[in-house]
Amino acid sequence: MGTTGTTARSTGWFPVARATEVGTTPVPVGADGRAYVVVRLRPGGEVSAFPARCPHRLVPLAAGTVVEARLQCPYHGWRFDGEGRCVDVPSLGPDGTAPPRADLTVPWAVEERHGWVWLAPERTAVTLPPAPAGDPLPEPAPDPEPPAGPVFGNLDPSLEHAWHPVALARELRPGGWLQVRLLGRTWSLSRTGEELSADPPAWGVRERFGVVWLAPAEPRDVPLELPEDDDRRFVRGWLPPTRSPGPAGPLADAFLDVAHVPFVHAATSGAADRVELPAHDVDAEPGGFTSVQERWCDAPQDRGVATGEQPLRHRRRATYVYRAPFQLRLRLDLLDSGAATTILFLLQPEDPDSTRVYTCLLLSAGPGQPLPSPDVVAAEVAVEQRVLAEDLELQAQMASTGLPLGMRDELHVRADRLGVALRRALADFAAAR
Ligand code: FES
Ligand SMILES: [Fe+2]
Repeated sequence: MGTTGTTARSTGWFPVARATEVGTTPVPVGADGRAYVVVRLRPGGEVSAFPARCPHRLVPLAAGTVVEARLQCPYHGWRFDGEGRCVDVPSLGPDGTAPPRADLTVPWAVEERHGWVWLAPERTAVTLPPAPAGDPLPEPAPDPEPPAGPVFGNLDPSLEHAWHPVALARELRPGGWLQVRLLGRTWSLSRTGEELSADPPAWGVRERFGVVWLAPAEPRDVPLELPEDDDRRFVRGWLPPTRSPGPAGPLADAFLDVAHVPFVHAATSGAADRVELPAHDVDAEPGGFTSVQERWCDAPQDRGVATGEQPLRHRRRATYVYRAPFQLRLRLDLLDSGAATTILFLLQPEDPDSTRVYTCLLLSAGPGQPLPSPDVVAAEVAVEQRVLAEDLELQAQMASTGLPLGMRDELHVRADRLGVALRRALADFAAAR
């Protein structure tokens, strides 16, 4: 006879994992229908239990790591002690204090007994886990609770009314055709002479910036402008289109988010970046917003630093432009040399759990400088591909159904102003009729 849910419920104690299976890597478990992770914050130390998701962006803490006897979230590095207290929010800087809502509600008790780890989610009169009659039967780890408010997923009805990227222009040759997925449906695109068409018929198909766009119904989005597109000082390099195993909203959120860089991109662009973020404004514009952020940074990976043409430490301006639903642009200006890099980032919501990602780099070496060479462009594209792969890996771990639009379903801190603006812009887009 095993310890079933019924007996567990009557004592308030739930066996969740064999004690020997819990080390310093978090293990997802279930107790009384609720999702937790259990982990030892020191090798051989006592077991701690935490709710399954980080309160910030709802990332599963099963993907977290133990660092200095705390559980660290993989996305922005928030750290939690054994009682669930959030003891570090890196984007707030060394003197910042985590907001009270950042603390995790941990189970009432965790005990290691009879070779098993037991959780009592709520206070119980039975002070210790009962001796099981046989081998306990832990319940499978359930899916964490979905957000209480609305979630903007890849099949949101408002997405019918927007232009979406559906292919690179070079993927659709004259006289050729192509099948694409958009909003859970399959469309056949064809090109005859100058004409682009779609089957089933769409409100429109057109080409812009080397991308084929499709609007299923009358669009109400404001098209993103790309001034670098016809600026002769810029050369462009497309990354091969790739797929994210999740919805577009959280990926757009990651593009606008600077605070994740030192954690998700430590191996590529992040290591040299300072963690604390300076104050910055977000200017609302029709269909989206712009945000300009200037700061000093060390960027050993930037062009010209290695060759000594630029100082390691230089002033950089980042200009983010967003247009709903999923058109994004980031321009990075190195203010000393005049060199600039623009990243165009466009998302195609294919299916609830699939998004095709188009990324283009537009590079300029600055006034009076020769155009960046094909080798330079190829090297920059290769770095950007590695950066994107790191983002997509995190998206896969998030197991998200979309971007939560209710402001209390996540926890926003000072560094999240663009993320908040994104959620508001998508809520407005979804509400427009
Ligand atoms: S720190 Fe966990 S999602 Fe941001
Ligand atoms: Fe990223």
